Amino acid sequence: MDIVIANESHFKYAQIICDTIAKSAQVRGTGIAKRTPEYINKKLSNGNAVIALEGDKFAGFCYIEVWGHEKYVANSGLIVHPDYRNQGLAKKIKNEIFKLSTSKFPDAKIFGITTGLAVMKINYELGYKPVTFSELTDDPEFWKGCQTCKNFDVLTRTEQKMCLCTGMLYDPKVKAKSTKKPNSKVYQKLKSLKESIFLKKNTK
Ligand SMILES: CC(C)(COP(=O)(O)OP(=O)(O)OC[C@H]1O[C@@H](n2cnc3c(N)ncnc32)[C@H](O)[C@@H]1OP(=O)(O)O)[C@@H](O)C(=O)NCCC(=O)NCCS
Repeated sequence: MDIVIANESHFKYAQIICDTIAKSAQVRGTGIAKRTPEYINKKLSNGNAVIALEGDKFAGFCYIEVWGHEKYVANSGLIVHPDYRNQGLAKKIKNEIFKLSTSKFPDAKIFGITTGLAVMKINYELGYKPVTFSELTDDPEFWKGCQTCKNFDVLTRTEQKMCLCTGMLYDPKVKAKSTKKPNSKVYQKLKSLKESIFLKKNTK
């Protein structure tokens, strides 16, 4: 498996990246910000993405978004093709995109919003901490990305204070990484709680 910083030679993978992201969101029945191949190509062109390939076969992807005049960056669009899941690939991709983010934008805070337990675990191990949305970028362009998510009404209802996603932030000024393993049960509970409040689901 090769995990490399993507470039224009990877344009041919833009469509499969978008399709895999969209299909996975459908299967999970969860919200996701939609991406177009043109948008992905921009990330490939400016060296702000990491792609995993097994030979010629697409295996995984993640990209960097820059917000608030480089005060914040987000590692977004993490996707591992179903054929390659549960082998530690997401963790490797996130490690690579994290390294790329800290070398290109050493002063930026790195953040993400996610409903995914796997992503919360990986972020936590990288040194991210769960935070309220008020600690994330207030760049309206970032929050516009949520408009294509099926839970956007929740974000609107709460005046952008909270949603089904959990915000997580890595602050380069707070260097100490946690050596503790994240407590998945806490994240799972938080997720169920939010779903029951915002979506009025019976979680029992
Ligand atoms: C989420 C996703 C990226 C995980 O990829 P992966 O390569 O299977 O993940 P890894 O094998 O690196 O697993 C990392 C950790 O998460 C855990 N994990 C993986 N999938 C999980 C799941 N569905 N639920 C809970 N934990 C999960 C693993 O057990 C591992 O934990 P460990 O370090 O304690 O062993 C992949 O399932 C995917 O592409 N899903 C659809 C898109 C998506 O949800 N993207 C995230 C949007 S924010």
